[in-house]
Order: sequence, then C-alpha cells, then structure tokens
Amino acid sequence: MVYSSTYALLLLLTQLAAAATATSSEAVAADYPKPTPWPLQFHSILFVNYSGSLSLIDLWYDWPNGRNFNIIQHQLGKLLYDLEWSNGTSFYYTLDSNKECRSVHFEVGILRPNWLEGAEYLGQETVDGFLCNVWQKVDFIWYYEDVVTKRPVHWVFYTGKLSISNELE
Ligand SMILES: *[C@@H]1O[C@H](CO)[C@@H](O)[C@H](O)[C@H]1NC(C)=O
Ligand SMILES: *[C@@H]1O[C@H](CO)[C@@H](O)[C@H](O)[C@H]1NC(C)=O
Repeated sequence: MVYSSTYALLLLLTQLAAAATATSSEAVAADYPKPTPWPLQFHSILFVNYSGSLSLIDLWYDWPNGRNFNIIQHQLGKLLYDLEWSNGTSFYYTLDSNKECRSVHFEVGILRPNWLEGAEYLGQETVDGFLCNVWQKVDFIWYYEDVVTKRPVHWVFYTGKLSISNELE
C-alpha cells in the first residue's frame, strides 16, 4: 500500500515536472481538440448580427476555384452579392434596378480551409443548444464547433463586433 501510494505520488511529481519543463503549452496542446478544417467546397447559411444590424447570408465557399460567394440579404434592405477572389479582389453588386457595383481590394484573399490552425483551445460551451468546442484565434475570433458533428455553429469577431451564427449544410 505504502509502496503503491508513493509510486503514485512519484508518478504525479514526474508528470508535474514534465509539465513544468515542457516549453509552454505546445507539448500539452497536442491533447486538446483541434478545429476541423473546412471542406474545400461547401454551401452554408449564416445568420449575421453586425452590432444589431441583421442579415442572412448564403455562402458558397469554393477553395479549389479560389472564390467565395456571399449572397447577403439585409433585413428590410437590399440583396447584395459579394464575390470574393483569392487574389484579394472582391466585387459587391446588386441585380436590382439600381445595378450598383464596386470592387474592393483586400491584402489577404479568402480564408484557407485550415485557417483555424494554431488556434488556442478554450474548452466547451453550449451555444444555440449545441455543445461546442471553443477556440480563439489571434485575439479577435472566437470559433464554436459542434462536438458531435464537428460543424461550425457560431463565430464571433470582436474587432468588427460581428457575430455570426453559422450552420453548414
Ligand atoms: C444582435 O446583437 C445585439 C448586440 O450588438 C443584441 O442586442 C441583439 O439582441 C442581437 N439580435 C439578435 C436577433 O440576435
Ligand atoms: C482577381 O481575380 C478576378 C477573377 O479572375 C479578376 O476579375 C480580378 O480582376 C483579379 N484582380 C486583380 C487585382 O488582378
């Protein structure tokens, strides 16, 4: 008895020592859940709340063809098409009688399928009735993935105060 409890204590001490000497969290991080990379192509419907301004987005993500198409319906507002290319160019346009069109250039193109790689695992939380694994990336994105299906349920972007509830089809 004494032997085994000492052994257990030693084992514990060894583990503590290992944890203490491990170079920060990397060695331990291997045990944490990792965000599931996005499929290369998918269709998703997102409910977006941008500081209280609501919209519904039909998202067509197409990594092999380097494009990301958002069809954005603003609540009581216009239907806006947002076609983003991997070279950083985005075209925003409407197909109503106004036929608006403008292009914007971004430094980075569309999100890579593994854009969440290296995110910090924060634990589990229930969102919209789904138990989710939660990660944080570069201090402004919180990403919630359903534990069972591994599909994204919710994201929060803090810089733009943009909060997205996302359901993959
Ligand atoms: C949208 O977000 C605002 C906070 O910015 C919140 O007060 C409001 O309840 C949210 N609306 C919905 C429908 O989630
Ligand atoms: C980026 O690619 C799109 C689609 O091929 C093209 O229309 C656009 O002009 C390109 N932008 C630049 C800056 O080359």
